[in-house]
Amino acid sequence: SDTKKTVNERLLNICKLLETHINYYNWVGFYFRNGHKEELLLGPYVGEPTDHTIIPFGKGICGQVAVSNKNFVVPDVSAQDNYIACSITVKAEIVVPIFVNGKNIGQIDIDSNTPDPFTEADERFLEFVCAKVSELL
Ligand code: SME
Repeated sequence: SDTKKTVNERLLNICKLLETHINYYNWVGFYFRNGHKEELLLGPYVGEPTDHTIIPFGKGICGQVAVSNKNFVVPDVSAQDNYIACSITVKAEIVVPIFVNGKNIGQIDIDSNTPDPFTEADERFLEFVCAKVSELL
């Protein structure tokens, strides 16, 4: 629908803004729950295309956040055993869930080519972004 398209355009613009203005945000994208299935689908993103357009709950950093409902900050992806590599250039990752009416419906996922770049300020900022995103869904 037209409404859906406008939402995806807005989400893509958010990705572009974040990737452009924060130098250590090198891949920025959204994953959303696929209906009532226990899997995530890739939504709008900027950065290198990824093969991981469907992620089962529990798998990788994203799949773990779908289950935990908590932020997941990974300072060093090479130290994670349950991690889905999208690009060899990625050193760190942050995933923050998006809640609509208290339900975890998706997440913002950010990869960095810089080791250990994310602070609590990134978490607070991305929680704010996700709260704004939940209002436009
Ligand atoms: N690294 C993620 C997969 C998604 S890519 O970062 C785009 C994970 O482990 O869930």
